Amino acid sequence: MKKHIFLFSLSVLLLCLFTEWPRGFQPLTAINSINSSENVTTILLWYWPFNKSYSLKGDVCWDLYRIPHCRLVDQRSWFSSADVVVFHNRELVEGRQKLPLDFPRPPCQRWAWMSLEAPAHNGNLRPYAGIFNMTITYRRDADIIVPYGELIPKEAEEHLVEDVTLNKSSLVCWVVSNYQRRHKRSQVYNELKAVVPVKVYGRWTKTHLTSGALLPTISRCYFYLAFENTISKDYITEKLWRNAYQGGAVPVVLGPSLTDYNAVAPSNSFIHVDQFASVKDLGKFLQELAEDKKRYSEYFTWEQRWKVKLYTDWRERLCKICLQYNSLPQQKVYSDLEAWLKANNE
Ligand SMILES: *[C@@H]1O[C@H](CO)[C@@H](O)[C@H](O)[C@H]1NC(C)=O
Ligand SMILES: *[C@@H]1O[C@H](CO)[C@@H](O)[C@H](O)[C@H]1NC(C)=O
Ligand SMILES: *[C@@H]1O[C@H](CO)[C@@H](O)[C@H](O)[C@H]1NC(C)=O
Ligand SMILES: *[C@@H]1O[C@H](CO)[C@@H](O)[C@H](O)[C@H]1NC(C)=O
Ligand SMILES: *[C@@H]1O[C@H](CO)[C@@H](O)[C@H](O)[C@H]1NC(C)=O
Repeated sequence: MKKHIFLFSLSVLLLCLFTEWPRGFQPLTAINSINSSENVTTILLWYWPFNKSYSLKGDVCWDLYRIPHCRLVDQRSWFSSADVVVFHNRELVEGRQKLPLDFPRPPCQRWAWMSLEAPAHNGNLRPYAGIFNMTITYRRDADIIVPYGELIPKEAEEHLVEDVTLNKSSLVCWVVSNYQRRHKRSQVYNELKAVVPVKVYGRWTKTHLTSGALLPTISRCYFYLAFENTISKDYITEKLWRNAYQGGAVPVVLGPSLTDYNAVAPSNSFIHVDQFASVKDLGKFLQELAEDKKRYSEYFTWEQRWKVKLYTDWRERLCKICLQYNSLPQQKVYSDLEAWLKANNE
């Protein structure tokens, strides 16, 4: 019995390696990176995240992101020839899309599970054991890593703000719309505001900032509370990348461990709540730092070499699959997706 299974797996693998699995429509004359090459990876998105679709006209991965040989489609007629079929978690668990389990699944095709939510907000994933071959999420151990943002090297010297303390009028700022007492961040906020002034904006305090006002407002603060609502491995959102870094305030972070932050951000560019024995100590530190211009400005030295890149478009995340397609493991199954997600979570 075992031998049969082994031989079967081996033959599927050999089939995957040595046959050109039908890769669909191949036009004769070529004008772009898709129809100029037979070496195209086809990514099929089964259902648009949050039911909001974007244009896939032309060679989108090349036109928008300079990623070649990557065909991104959303028409299900591509199913039999797609190399990867991507399922966004939200619509799966809410039943708005169903896995195409009734169709024969091409032997070399990979099914990908995609989510940007922290595990607590992904719903029940037990029904999806043994289904997916790859994960697309912000976790650093995902097959395709899609962070909320990252620092990328600057191409050229750019003019840097010389006096980073200019125009600053608030010590600590926080923008929060979903305030819940049970969140760890709320406890830290309440302790902190007993030590230093904290200016709060957002829906919770009915001082909503328009998207145009967000960064200019934060730029007038020395520190920004980049506090995640869920504490979970690698879960670092635009609160750090956009609000704090792009706003020009030093981030005070609360979220995953210091190690997780150090893996993606220079250690002298942010302040982690865990670095202090108490919130009171943190408050005192912030006050002293704001008064020491030289030391404060050292938190901005990263800007000489790095700039922030935000990821907001699903098409970019999907096109990224093609960059790594050839280095994916030949054979992989998430036999317990739920356990994988819950693993190593603080
Ligand atoms: C096939 O595509 C991969 C990745 O897109 C590329 O690295 C490789 O050079 C291509 N091979 C040929 C023969 O075009
Ligand atoms: C999804 O969006 C399409 C087009 O906007 C709309 O026709 C359809 O009713 C939506 N479906 C759901 C379940 O919201
Ligand atoms: C090549 O692909 C582009 C978009 O993907 C399409 O507009 C064009 O017609 C194709 N060329 C041919 C000759 O089919
Ligand atoms: C300070 O504010 C002035 C006027 O609003 C603006 O022109 C200037 O660029 C700001 N400087 C910094 C460093 O943000
Ligand atoms: C993908 O997962 C399916 C279902 O577990 C499995 O049969 C198939 O061999 C896997 N394919 C790859 C390329 O890992």
